[in-house]
Amino acid sequence: MNRREFISNTCIACASGAGLSYLLSSCSSTHYVTGTLEQKGISIAVSEFTYLQKGKPVNRDFIIVHHDNLEFPIYLSRIKENEYSALWMKCSHQGSELNAGGDYLYCSSHGSEFDRKGNAIHGPAEKNLRSFPTSILNNKVLIELTKG
Ligand code: FES
Repeated sequence: MNRREFISNTCIACASGAGLSYLLSSCSSTHYVTGTLEQKGISIAVSEFTYLQKGKPVNRDFIIVHHDNLEFPIYLSRIKENEYSALWMKCSHQGSELNAGGDYLYCSSHGSEFDRKGNAIHGPAEKNLRSFPTSILNNKVLIELTKG
């Protein structure tokens, strides 16, 4: 196989296999944060949703929150100015860890997709994702880790 054939075949595989827009969006904008353990859950500074680009503040739509005590990460997205959605990144189909694809989550095991509020929008998963209540205090987003 020559170079031209390799590039052609690779691009076709990317575009048809996993969805090119998913690959591009997940690579370019994912921000990972280690949360701080609090009495009621895990907190993250609101400032994690902002970064500077050419000296100007730019908002992130979501971040991925990790902590050593968590079995799965949490997809934390900003719905509005003071409204956040916190989703357990465990697929409701058979429990694989999900990938963030911009404004949705994607399971590479069998192809399920979920919107940024955790609703199952593409099977085989039929159940929505587990979500956690959030609140804002002292410029921090608190993800309340409830049992479920
Ligand atoms: S485990 Fe996620 S779609 Fe099957």
